[in-house]
Formats: sequence, C-alpha cells, structure tokens
Amino acid sequence: MAQFELPEPQPDPLLQLIGRYRADTRSNKIDLGVGVYKDNQNNTPVLAAVKEAEATLHQQQQSKSYLGLTGDIEFVEALGELILPATSITIMGAQTPGGSGALRLAAELYNTAHPNGTLWIGLPTWPNHLPLTESTGVKTATFNYFDRGTQQLQFEAMLNAVNSADAGDAILLHGCCHNPTGADLSLQQWQQLAELIAQRSVIPIIDIAYHGLGTGLDQDLAATRLIAASCEQTLIAASCSKNFGLYRDRTGAVYMAAHNAKTASRAQAMFGQIARKIYSMPPDHGAAVVRMILHNGSLKKLWLDELDTMVNRINSLRTEMAKQSSYLEFVAHQHGMFSLLPLTPAQVNSLIDDHAVYLACDGRINVAGCQPEQIGQFVSALNEVGYSGIE
Ligand SMILES: Cc1ncc(COP(=O)(O)O)c(C=O)c1O
Repeated sequence: MAQFELPEPQPDPLLQLIGRYRADTRSNKIDLGVGVYKDNQNNTPVLAAVKEAEATLHQQQQSKSYLGLTGDIEFVEALGELILPATSITIMGAQTPGGSGALRLAAELYNTAHPNGTLWIGLPTWPNHLPLTESTGVKTATFNYFDRGTQQLQFEAMLNAVNSADAGDAILLHGCCHNPTGADLSLQQWQQLAELIAQRSVIPIIDIAYHGLGTGLDQDLAATRLIAASCEQTLIAASCSKNFGLYRDRTGAVYMAAHNAKTASRAQAMFGQIARKIYSMPPDHGAAVVRMILHNGSLKKLWLDELDTMVNRINSLRTEMAKQSSYLEFVAHQHGMFSLLPLTPAQVNSLIDDHAVYLACDGRINVAGCQPEQIGQFVSALNEVGYSGIE
C-alpha cells in the first residue's frame, strides 16, 4: 500500500513556550511570551461590547446560509470607513479569516498582478510574515528595520531598500505597533517614506493588527491614512483579533485603497476569486459582531472605551517598567504590546528556567502579559541574568 512519507514536524517555538508556561507550577511565573492582550486579572477577556453584540446577534440571526466570497460586505465597508474615513480614496475589499488571511490574499493579489515583482520586508518582523507571503510564490527581499542592541530604527536602510526597489515592487509595512520591536516611524518619517514609495512606484502593503493599542485609534491609523493618500494603490491587511479581542473567531479584512475607483472595485472581485481557490468563504460570526458594534453608536462607544482601557493599561505598564529600571527606559517610548530586549539566548533561558519569566527566544516581551505587581520581580530577574540594556 502506498504511504505518505511526511517529514518530522518542526515545533513552533512560541507554541512550545506557551506549553511550558502552562505546565510550570511555580506560583510566581510571569507570562511575557504569549501574543495576546491580558487584563489585570491575567485574562484575555471577551469585550463587553462583543458580548452585547453577540446577544443581539443570537436573537436576530435568521439564517446561516452562505454570504458570498467577500463575506459580510457591510462589515467590510464599516471597517473600511473606520480605517479611511470620508476621503476621495476608494477603499474596497473582502472579509478574511483574521489578519493572516488578509495578508495571504494581499500577497496573492500582488503576485498575480506583478508576477515578477519583489516584496520587501524589514527585519525583524512577525515570524509569520515571510512564510505567509512566500507561500504565494512571491519573491521576497529583506532589509534591516531595527537594531536590537541600540534599539534604533534603521530608517536609512528602509529608504535605501525603497530606492533600490524596481517600479512595481511591493513593501510590507507595519502600520503601527511594530511586532516584535514596538518601534514605529515618526509621522515625519512616514511622510518621507510615503513620498519616496509613491515616487518610486512601489506598492505598499500595510499590515494593521494592533490599531488602537499603541497611542489611540486615530493616531495608530495615521500612517495608513497618510500612505493611502500619497500612493495610487495601497493594499491593507486588517485584523480584528487584538483590538476587538476576537482572536479565535478569525476576523479580518483585506482592502485595496485606490485613487482610481475601478482599481479598487476590480481588486475586490479578485480577492473573492482568490478566496474561492483557497477557503471559499470566511467564517461569519466575528465579522457580524464587529459590524453590529460599528453600526451602533452606543456599542461603538463602549468598544472605544474598552480599547482605551487596554491601551492605557499597556502604556502604564511601559511607563512603570522604565521607571523601575533605567535599562528599560526605551520601553516607555515604544508602542503596542511588544518590545524586543537585547538579551542573549543564555539570558532568555535563565529568565525562564531560574526566574519563571517566560519570553520569546529572541528577547521579545509582551508588555501586556505583565501584572503591575510583577514588574519588580521582572526587573530583578533581568538584573540577575546580567541584562545591561542598550549598547
Ligand atoms: C504583525 C501581525 N500581523 C498580523 C497578525 C495576524 O493576526 P490574526 O491572523 O490572528 O488576525 C498578527 C498576529 O499576531 C501580527 O502580530
């Protein structure tokens, strides 16, 4: 009988870390490894706005018949309006299974339109960016985005990458709250980059997965709006996993924001055709919930208040970490859930094994995973493993 010869599966280091954390019986363990928001009770809560919308949805939903390849189009429009409100730019797209699905569709569309183009990606980046985009067959090239030792953005390297790109190449940008570094461009730098991208006819693909969790929703979307205003065509991959807390409901959307309405409309049709070949249609529940929140003034206000609570918690943890250790000073100036500490692999291992402080092997910490009363223990553990901050 014919048999599959399957390779030994490669364990995912982050999932392994989560498993080790769960199995650890030490009562003082700290979870800075997991990539989700945590509240002061160490929970990743279902938002009250989501609970309310779900209750109404449960009452009102009359059918679970198919919706179509682009999913819940009213959700897509409401989220598009939130991202790019009332401009002359046309934003059209499709609902996707999370931000990951959106990235995949954006990369597929790009690869179909520019089969010989190169997608430029700054490093370090979210570990899934390369496999997710490369699985479409798109050619990638990398540049240095950030120096971990000095905690400095490599803006010149970014500009050089755009300058060496061919017309029709694409560049993947973190719209805000860079994962894993927390280091974002200033608005001035975004302006400069946007102008260069437009001038070089490079196509921006913006990944927004943490908007609302950096400074505030509008501030976190400012770069996306600026790029979309400057460039003829902008692809946007949006996730509702973090800012709506809908992680497992797989809620996101992919957009083409274009100065030419026909381009946006054709991209929308193409997103549907691409989805048909992969998973056909996205799951409905999370998108229906987001649509209800965005369509209802009081639910939207409740969600925005909850988003404020989350961002305030993250930023007060950042401030407190910097206050308790001068070696963590830079953490206060970074955005979103993550920072990338300049730790050696041996220091990371010792933090986990000897001090019950769990973090990713590259030194990435999820600030939101820390409880305020654990900051002292975290700082002492860093001192004990010989961490001495930036170079
Ligand atoms: C930078 C970045 N982009 C996209 C995503 C995709 O999120 P999801 O597919 O869970 O919506 C994540 C998730 O961690 C992320 O960190």
